[in-house]
This record gives sequence, structure tokens and C-alpha cells, in this order.
Amino acid sequence: MPKLYIETVGCQMNVLDSELVVAALRKEGYELTSDSAAADTVIFNTCSVREHAEEKIYSALGRLKNAKQQNPDKVIGVIGCMAQNHQRTVFERAPYVDLVVGPGQLHQVPELIRKVQTTGDQQLEVSLGRKEGSRTEIARSHESFDPLRDPTMRPTPFQAYVRIQIGCDKFCTYCIVPSVRGPEQSRHPEDILAEARQLAGEGCKEITLLGQTVNSYKYNEGEQTTRFSDLIYSLHDVDGIDRIKFVTNYPKDMTDDLLEAVRDLPKCSKYLHVPAQSGSDAQLKAMRRGYTVGEYREMLARTYEMIPRVAVTSDFIVGFSGETDEDFQMSMDLVRESRFKNSFIFKYSERPGTKGAQHLPDDVPDAVKRARNNEMLQLQNEISEADNQRFLGEAVQVLVEGPSKAAAKKEAELGAVPLQTQLTGRTMCDRIVVFDGNRRQIGETIDIAIYDANAHTLFGTVVTQHVQPELVTLG
Ligand code: SAH
Ligand code: SF4
Ligand code: F3S
Repeated sequence: MPKLYIETVGCQMNVLDSELVVAALRKEGYELTSDSAAADTVIFNTCSVREHAEEKIYSALGRLKNAKQQNPDKVIGVIGCMAQNHQRTVFERAPYVDLVVGPGQLHQVPELIRKVQTTGDQQLEVSLGRKEGSRTEIARSHESFDPLRDPTMRPTPFQAYVRIQIGCDKFCTYCIVPSVRGPEQSRHPEDILAEARQLAGEGCKEITLLGQTVNSYKYNEGEQTTRFSDLIYSLHDVDGIDRIKFVTNYPKDMTDDLLEAVRDLPKCSKYLHVPAQSGSDAQLKAMRRGYTVGEYREMLARTYEMIPRVAVTSDFIVGFSGETDEDFQMSMDLVRESRFKNSFIFKYSERPGTKGAQHLPDDVPDAVKRARNNEMLQLQNEISEADNQRFLGEAVQVLVEGPSKAAAKKEAELGAVPLQTQLTGRTMCDRIVVFDGNRRQIGETIDIAIYDANAHTLFGTVVTQHVQPELVTLG
């Protein structure tokens, strides 16, 4: 049996894409290996969102050069966003790469590997650029992949990603995603429902809906429009699915009908990732985010008012073009007052081909970017820790995912799989909880009493005696 090694970087879209590629290759008889040296085919599923993500892949490719010289039959593939972004440049920088395949052509991977094996020629398949045709032509060239799925590639057997939208039309000036993922296209609601039902049939309990701006989802058919909130209501009726999450939300599309759905539907996770990016109007304008800080604050106030104990998380970019100390302090103010459960903070990385790279100088020195990044991270960590401390002495409901990272490492070293082990899971609001339990609890939703907390994790014990349901919070 041919052996496949696959490495995935980037966002959840890529995790899902890798699941689909593995499913297609398993159908062809491949089996997975975690050893790239022993693999017949090595695939990197790549990300272009920051330069660092790209450079990491080129370094990994560099390390494969010798292996390829020793075994010329080894097939090396670069797929995903960097494949679409760099195209032939990948072959120029790493001439021993055999195939370069964009996110819109992933269904062709098995066939392209066969072509490499029969002809020995390099294969390149990518979508059209955003100016290389009509909108329909470009959209079609990015059309995604049949949902052939492979449960073994999922985070756990009872959790799965479901793509409801591909591409993005927001064109934030710093961002490469609209170029590499193409025009925004929403999937037919019936296809999404069919996939959710199939997943439920396979034992999946939690689905996470994916879209770059997931809450901009809209599907028009004749007179009828399906909004994102309508879709969530339909998915809520799928038997077997207990939890529905979704990422990533665009602040301007956080409408009341959506917030009401999140509030009213018990299966809907009370966790909203709504990136602000900056707390300065000048920066938001330069980024072309399409809202002011005032509008973001209004959206956040509405969210906190409508959904009690909702957990909101955000992304911030520091050191974007022209960011002054005052701009940065405005972002700090927004972090301080917003009480985000967590924020992902990134140093601006100029991406060739974006409006930002063309028109806005990357003029904040790296040392300043780094200092701002650390300062914001420290503030957010203090807030996250204080937020988690609120749970001390409370019981929370946890969907148990599996052994904790530490337990998994220890089990791998010992080569043993004990029944009693340290487990990890998540609350309805996406908080990570670690506790000692029994493997049989994996996949179940159980109550955990919290006795300790840091910025990223709650620690607890399984509640064995009966607890009055009103004392258990959603966490
Ligand atoms: N579609 C999502 C995010 C996609 S990229 C959204 O719109 O929120 C994930 C995060 O990476 C972004 O939210 C942004 O904070 C960050 N990011 C995107 N481009 C970047 C760049 N050029 N430099 C640094 N961070 C970037
Ligand atoms: Fe990038 Fe902006 Fe689209 Fe998000 S909304 S993917 S940040 S262009
Ligand atoms: Fe990266 Fe592509 Fe996702 S650029 S963040 S993997 S959509």
C-alpha cells in the first residue's frame, strides 16, 4: 500500500481540505504515515496569510531535498493557499516538487499524482486570478470539492467541520485570502443539511460551520433567501447533532436575527469569534474593514446585552501601515474594555499582491511590532485569566474530546492506553477544561466542577453526585 504523509498549516479551512484530500487518496489505496521519510507521497497543505507561514513550508521542503535525491519516485506536493499564491514560483524555489495544486483543484490530486508517476512531469493546477476572467468564470474555477470525508482525519470522531461558504469578497487591504480563495460563494442549504445529517449518522455530535465571513452567508433561490440564521435553525433540527459552532464572523453582519438564534437555540454555542483587527478608526479605514470602532462597540454591546454570558473572541493586527502609538493605544483600550475571552494577535506581514502592499508602506519597524504584540498579549492574558477565574467553584458542561495533551504524550511514550487518564474537553462557550476521568467518557457531555483556572484552561473534577441542573452553567 502506498504511504501518504500530509502536513497541514493555516486555518480550519485547510484542516477540512486535508480531510477531503486524505479521503480521496485512501479511496485509491493510500494509508497514512506520520513519518515523512517513509512516505511515498508527501503533501504540504499550505497557508499564505503571513510570510512566516510560507517560509516555514519552504524550509520543510528544503529538508526533503535529499530524500527526493535518494528516492526520485517519492512524490512531493504543495497544495492549498500558497500553491495558488506562488504557482510556478514553488517549482522555481524547490525544483524537486512534483505538484502544485490550489484549493479549488484539490479533487484532482489523486489524478495529478498518477500523472506525475506516469509522465515524470511536474503538474500545476490552480484557479483563475481575481482579474483573469468574468466573476462567474473565476468563481467556477474556485469551486470546491465534493464532500468525500474521512472521519479519521477529524479533530475527534464526534466533531467535524462543515464548509458553508468559500472565498471572500471583503478585500481588507492587508489580506491575501480573497486572492487565494476566490469570490465569496455560499453553498446550497440543502447540501449543507445533507452533510450534517450524514455526519450525525456517523456519530458526529458537534459541527463547526466554516466560512471566511461565515455570518455573511446568504443563499438566494428564486424568491427565497436563506440567511445564516435560517440555516442555523434548520441545522438545529438535525437529530444527533448536539452542538453547533461557527467561525469567523464579520462584525458588520452581526445582525439581531443571528444573535437571537444564538440566544434561543440550545444547541448553538454561545461563543462568537468576531475579529475587530484594530481600535483606531484611521487604521480600520486603511484596512478597509468597512466599520468604525464606534460601530464595533455598538455591535459588542448589543451582543453582550442579548446573550447573557456569551464568550466573544477577537483578532488584532499590530503594526499595520501608519499605526502610531496613539492608534495602538486605541486598540489596547478596545481590548481592555471588551473583555474578550481571548484574542489572536498578529504582527502585520505585508502580502505582495494586496492593496496594502501596493499602496501602503510597511513602515512600522519590526521591533515596534514585536513590542506592541507582546504588550497586547499580556493585557489579553490578564483579562482571559480573570475571565476564567469566574468559574472557580462552578460546575460546567463539557463535551469530552480525549486525553489531554500531556496525557497523550505520556501514553505515546509508554505505549499504553490506560482507562483512567487526564482528559480534555470544551464547554459550550469553547473554554478548554482539563480533568481526570475515564476513557469511556470520551464523546459524552458531562458536568465538571472547576477548582483552578489560568488564562487558557479550566481545571476540574468530574461531578459524581447529583447537581441541580440550574447550578450547572454553560461555561
Ligand atoms: N476571515 C477571517 C480571518 C482570516 S485570516 C476574518 O475576516 O476575520 C485570520 C486573521 O489573520 C485575520 O483576522 C487577521 O487578524 C490576520 N491577518 C490576515 N492577514 C494578515 C497579514 N497580512 N498580516 C498579519 N495578520 C494578518
Ligand atoms: Fe481577509 Fe478581510 Fe476576507 Fe477576513 S474579511 S478573509 S480578513 S479579506
Ligand atoms: Fe491561510 Fe488560506 Fe486559511 S491563506 S488562513 S489557509 S484560507
